[in-house]
Amino acid sequence: LSRIHRLVLVACGTSWHAAIAGEYLIENFAGVPVEVECASEMRYRNRPLEKDTLVVSISQSGETADTLAAIRGARDLGIRTLAIVNVVGSTIARESDADIYMRAGPEIGVASTKAFEMQVLLLTLLGMALGRLRGTLPTAQGRKLVNELKTIPRKIQQILDGDGHILHIAKKYYRCTDFLYMGRQINFPIALEGALKLKELSYIHAEGYPSAEMKHGPIALIAPDFPSVFVVPRDPVFDKNVSNMEEIKARKGPIIAVATAGDKEVARTADDVIYIPRTSDWLYPLLTVVPLQLLAYHIAVLRGCDV
Ligand code: M6R
Repeated sequence: LSRIHRLVLVACGTSWHAAIAGEYLIENFAGVPVEVECASEMRYRNRPLEKDTLVVSISQSGETADTLAAIRGARDLGIRTLAIVNVVGSTIARESDADIYMRAGPEIGVASTKAFEMQVLLLTLLGMALGRLRGTLPTAQGRKLVNELKTIPRKIQQILDGDGHILHIAKKYYRCTDFLYMGRQINFPIALEGALKLKELSYIHAEGYPSAEMKHGPIALIAPDFPSVFVVPRDPVFDKNVSNMEEIKARKGPIIAVATAGDKEVARTADDVIYIPRTSDWLYPLLTVVPLQLLAYHIAVLRGCDV
């Protein structure tokens, strides 16, 4: 790993969203360039790859045909491959040079949930490990992050304990036919994932966008019956996110916000707020995705869908 000068993360669907989070995490901790490829695009592309590139595939099942084809293509070029997979002994695991197992347990339904959590966690750890190897993540900062990671299960439990409030919000919005999900930086892929969970479970049209990109087209759709879900924790882009929320409000669009506990500023603009515990800026995705999974679940059940 110390000889790697570039990483290409390749995956599909939910795993691809985790890869986008991984790009932010690894570049921040390790200062190494990371590119994310959608496997179904990469496999048919004539993509030059330098020898010091590591191709990292991310897959819950370890059997997704496009992801497998993409890593086979890389291997044919003599590029080293690392797989982050859940299913032990799966084809992608067997055909890669090295594996990191998620050990999330089996995904029961079609919707990837706990696997996504583990993918983001493992990409965080991979970024930190690379950062330590390359000397870009100081020991003290690494220790602080590890200590904070240890609090994440308890914080997720707190979110699960507040599920009744998420059900209440679901009851308010489940008849809507369109949703926009927005977030910035490392919470942008969480917006993508929230939208995917909603459409996959409830058959409602939903799109994820980087918050500011919304004004370059999608804002035209905003109306009183078109809710926006903002992922807006107290991080360095908080103020920017709030000004995007105000743009939605000016067009009378309802807003559901996922915000940091105690944040009164968000409550002034949003119609409904789901609070999550405070954590490190870089670990927020591990928390912000959980209420979005629950929201999609409740909306789907209320619409009579078999989750
Ligand atoms: O098993 P994989 O992670 O390779 O699957 C990739 C996608 O098909 C998968 O993540 C899909 O998007 C999920 N069902 C979404 O919840």
